[in-house]
Amino acid sequence: MMLKDSPKKHLLITGSTIGVALAHRFAQDDQVESVTLTWHSRPPATTSAKINTMQLDLTNDEAVHNTFKNFEKLDGVINAVGFLHGDGVQPEKSISRTNPTSFFKNMETNTLPTLLLAKHSRGLLKDSHAGFFASISAKVGSIEDNRLGGWYSYRASKAALNMVLKTLAIEWSFALPKCTVAALHPGTVISPLSRPFTNKTNKRLFSPEESASHLKTILDNLTPQQSGRFWSWDGTEIPW
Ligand SMILES: NC(=O)c1ccc[n+]([C@@H]2O[C@H](COP(=O)([O-])OP(=O)(O)OC[C@H]3O[C@@H](n4cnc5c(N)ncnc54)[C@H](OP(=O)(O)O)[C@@H]3O)[C@@H](O)[C@H]2O)c1
Repeated sequence: MMLKDSPKKHLLITGSTIGVALAHRFAQDDQVESVTLTWHSRPPATTSAKINTMQLDLTNDEAVHNTFKNFEKLDGVINAVGFLHGDGVQPEKSISRTNPTSFFKNMETNTLPTLLLAKHSRGLLKDSHAGFFASISAKVGSIEDNRLGGWYSYRASKAALNMVLKTLAIEWSFALPKCTVAALHPGTVISPLSRPFTNKTNKRLFSPEESASHLKTILDNLTPQQSGRFWSWDGTEIPW
C-alpha cells in the first residue's frame, strides 16, 4: 500500500530480465521508496528490501485492474514484458512463414500489456509531480528504421506498441500533463528473449544491469515536453 502524501517515489515495473534489472537499479535511488515488480511464470530473485514482487498476467484486463487496486499513488510505470520466440513460434524471415498463431502471440504479449497498464494506472499517476509511463519497445519496431525486413509479427507488434504510446502521450498531455510517456529501446541485451539470436549479431551486447542503467538515465532526464517519443539506450531519438 502506498501513501498518497509520500514525497518519495513509488514505481511499478514488469518483466523478468530487463524488468528485474530496472527494479534493482531504481531501488538504489534514494528518491525511490518502493518498487513493485510483477512476474508471470517464474518468481524473480530480488536483493532489495524496497522491491515487492507480485504475480500478474499482463494480458488479463481484470487481473491488471485488481492489481492496481492495491495502490493509492504511483510515480512511474515501466513495462518490460515481451515475446519474440517460444511455444513453437519463431520470428519469421519471410512472409511465407507468417501465421495467425505467431501474429496474435506477438500482439498479445508485446502490445496489449501496455494498453492495459496505461488504462489501469492512469488514476494513480495523475497525482505525481513528475510521473512517467514507459514501455520497452525495440528499434526493429521503427518503420522508418526498417532496413533489413523480416520478423514480421514482432516488428508489427512493436510498431503497434509505439502507436499506443504516441496516442497515449497525446491523450495524457491534456489529462496528465505532468506525466511523461516514453518508448525505450534497451539495446541488445543478454536475456532468454535474445539468446537464440545474439551469437550471430555484430551489435554491442549489454548485460541487463548495463541496459537498466542506461534506461534509468534517460527516464531521469525526460520532461513532459518530451512526452510521446522513442528513445534508444544511449539517449538518441529513434524515428517512429
Ligand atoms: N533482450 C534484447 O536484446 C531486447 C532488445 C530489444 C527489445 N527488447 C524488449 O525488452 C523487453 C524485455 O525483454 P527481455 O530481454 O528482458 O526478455 P525476457 O527476460 O524474456 O522478458 C520478457 C518477459 O515477458 C514476460 N511475459 C510474457 N508473457 C507475459 C504475460 N502474459 N504477462 C506478464 N508477463 C509476461 C515473461 O515472463 P515469463 O517468462 O514468466 O512468461 C518475461 O518476464 C521485451 O519487450 C523485449 O521485446 C529486448
